[in-house]
Amino acid sequence: MASRIRVGIAGTGSYTPERVVPNAYFEEFLDTSDEWIVQRTGIRERRFAAEGQATSDLCVEAGKRALEAAGIRPEDLDLVIVGTLTPDYPLPSTACLVQDRLGATRAGAFDVAAACTGFMTALSTGEAFVAAGRAKRVLVIGAETLSRFVDYTDRGSAIIFGDGAGAAILTPLDECGQGEVLKTTLGADGSGYDFIHIPGGGAKAPPTHASIDAGQHFIKMRGRDVYRFAVSHMAEMIEEMLEGYDRDDLTLIVPHQVNRRIIDTALDRLEMTDEKVMINIQHYGNTSAATVPIALDEAARAGRMEKGKLVVLCAFGAGLTWGGSLLRW
Ligand code: UT7
Repeated sequence: MASRIRVGIAGTGSYTPERVVPNAYFEEFLDTSDEWIVQRTGIRERRFAAEGQATSDLCVEAGKRALEAAGIRPEDLDLVIVGTLTPDYPLPSTACLVQDRLGATRAGAFDVAAACTGFMTALSTGEAFVAAGRAKRVLVIGAETLSRFVDYTDRGSAIIFGDGAGAAILTPLDECGQGEVLKTTLGADGSGYDFIHIPGGGAKAPPTHASIDAGQHFIKMRGRDVYRFAVSHMAEMIEEMLEGYDRDDLTLIVPHQVNRRIIDTALDRLEMTDEKVMINIQHYGNTSAATVPIALDEAARAGRMEKGKLVVLCAFGAGLTWGGSLLRW
């Protein structure tokens, strides 16, 4: 077997829409309160895309910023991979729209469907292409326009989601000299497919007037079940990623921004404090595939990661799916 090429993260970028939606917005039409939402989730506000703005638009902005940070031109990209559960269209992929809009004329493009684990799946796939010598420069994006798929009559789910996009550029490590991807892991348990799902609109239940009237095209979530699954997987994945490495070398954990309480409970299980954890859920809510790359980009720009030290990324969500990565920054 040919030797594996070491892969690094040459640059990151993120974009969140301008419209800020505070918790008070939901008080107007749901039996909820700012106090409940802050206490139970840690969320204070989220961003919603403007009318006409869709997932590909968010991807393009995040992608441009990542390209600029990496000092790479769009025409140098070999591959564009988008992780999203809210594509612009059922067909074609959002990645193709992004490839065209960025001018990535030499790149292949496809989406990965792994819900909140979408960015981790895109990263893992992109890393494998670069490591195998099949691509040299890969743009990986996690992006969502969840505000279009939320059931605004369901207080148990409507309050947690937000819109946004985050991106990273993968290249051989000897080209970028930073952010080495040391490990990646992906997992799934499809027996929990209905913990979070959109029952209508696909091949199983094509859209009808009746299904749309019944709101079958909106996200349905068994919040408590997801909560329990999330707590155990977050702790396990962080442990798995750090196995064989010195915990003292850890500079930052960038977890899926799913619920502040889930992050805190997982940290308690690991006997860790939140000092080395990137948390921005208060500003953006749960942006599904976009949480990890947005948080990673904000951490990188804020200088929160010490060069040469370890960074853990982890996410989990519908499918059920989960994915983690260990980086040396
Ligand atoms: O990325 C993966 C996507 N999924 C998630 O991120 C979901 C993970 N789960 C969660 O974050 C939490 O389960 C929620 C935030 C969704 C719910 O919080 P919880 O502490 O698990 O609440 P619960 O579902 O156990 O409900 C407790 C009570 C219920 O009332 P009763 O039956 O005790 O009277 C709910 O009806 O809280 C009520 N409730 C609310 N009350 C005010 C649920 N949502 C709300 C709300 N405002 N928005």
